[in-house]
Amino acid sequence: MPDWRSHWSLRPGVTYLNHGSFGPSPRVVSEARQAWTDRLESEPMDFLVRQMEEHLDAARDCLGKFVGTHGRNLVFVDNATFGMNVVAHSFPLTAGDEVLATDHEYGAVLRIWRQQCQKTGATLIVRKLPARLDSIDELIETLFAAVTARTRLIVVSHVTSPTAVILPVREICAKAKTLGLAVCIDGPHAPAAVDVTIDKFGCDFYAASCHKWLSAPFGSGFLYVHPRWQGKARPNIVSWGHSLSGRPANWSDEFTWSGTRDPAAFLAVPAAIEFLEGLNRAVAAEPQSATARREASFGAGDTRSGVDYFRRWSHDLVRYAREQIVRLTGLEPLVPDSPEWYGTMIALPLPDAVREPHEGHMHPLQQALWDRHQIEVPIVDWQGRRFVRVSCHLYSDRGDVDRLVDALRGLLST
Ligand SMILES: Cc1ncc(COP(=O)(O)O)c(C=O)c1O
Repeated sequence: MPDWRSHWSLRPGVTYLNHGSFGPSPRVVSEARQAWTDRLESEPMDFLVRQMEEHLDAARDCLGKFVGTHGRNLVFVDNATFGMNVVAHSFPLTAGDEVLATDHEYGAVLRIWRQQCQKTGATLIVRKLPARLDSIDELIETLFAAVTARTRLIVVSHVTSPTAVILPVREICAKAKTLGLAVCIDGPHAPAAVDVTIDKFGCDFYAASCHKWLSAPFGSGFLYVHPRWQGKARPNIVSWGHSLSGRPANWSDEFTWSGTRDPAAFLAVPAAIEFLEGLNRAVAAEPQSATARREASFGAGDTRSGVDYFRRWSHDLVRYAREQIVRLTGLEPLVPDSPEWYGTMIALPLPDAVREPHEGHMHPLQQALWDRHQIEVPIVDWQGRRFVRVSCHLYSDRGDVDRLVDALRGLLST
């Protein structure tokens, strides 16, 4: 079995099951970022003014190919939060309008839209989805039952944060289109973890971070803006708004230069894509690669197979975590045991016994898992219930999951 952990520089002794919140980069990606910074440092004027725009174009073309749209429809932003703020500030809301979201949305995203609605006189409607998510039709019906004549925009996660559920964004976009509604997808957990095919979704906006499952450097994300909105998209930070190298004007110029900064995190995104897509070659180079190759059923030169290998590896581990934790708690997960509903991350309910009130930001159980066992895993409060959200990446193994289950067994019984 390949020693994937050796590709990362994770601190020894820590069981890291939280790639979903903060996904560390493999060394090869950190090195690529450093190489870009070195180029900047060696001749800043030449790099920032003459070269940078061309390199950024190449990086976003590569990213565009990975997420199913043309690079010219994307802008690099620091993270999904930044991108979502751009959409909130650019979308034409007026008094009486409604923005529709689900009750599985990320808290900060709901806060962004609540504030923007307050400013414009619009209303944020948070729709409760069915308690058990096992029917796409039922989910769509429930969500769209909250659409009114005042609804202008649907904000929906591709993969949800508190519950780690893959939502049927393609079907949501298709239905929204028939009603003339815009859709903004909040997608930081999706790139690399599940197929992101933006043009096929037909959404209006897609905001994501690349420093989660794609394992690109921290501070790398993107915003997709459909051509019909590109003339309206405005950055949160106003700067020159034109190309520094004197190229013809483009909608993305407003975003490319937001004051002086090191663009290395953005420029290293292709290295992260190359790492995942090249996993088939990495496995082939392993001394005992024959079995691994057979198991992974790679096609030589097939770039998707590297990504599929990562997904299968992670999903199998997360599925193992699901089996073990359900055996421990006896509590039913929110979704069926299918890659249609969960991918590289899963949220599993915990018994009521761990629902102590807590005032800090970190749940006492999460704190105890860290203090006593050096396990990083989020314990999430959602809808009055507690969940443990387990993320597995290439560097994870069954030993990590077993340590978590043993620790939970001990802590839940005290
Ligand atoms: C669904 C969702 N949206 C948005 C965010 C914000 O991502 P970032 O902190 O990278 O901006 C997160 C972070 O975990 C998230 O889970």
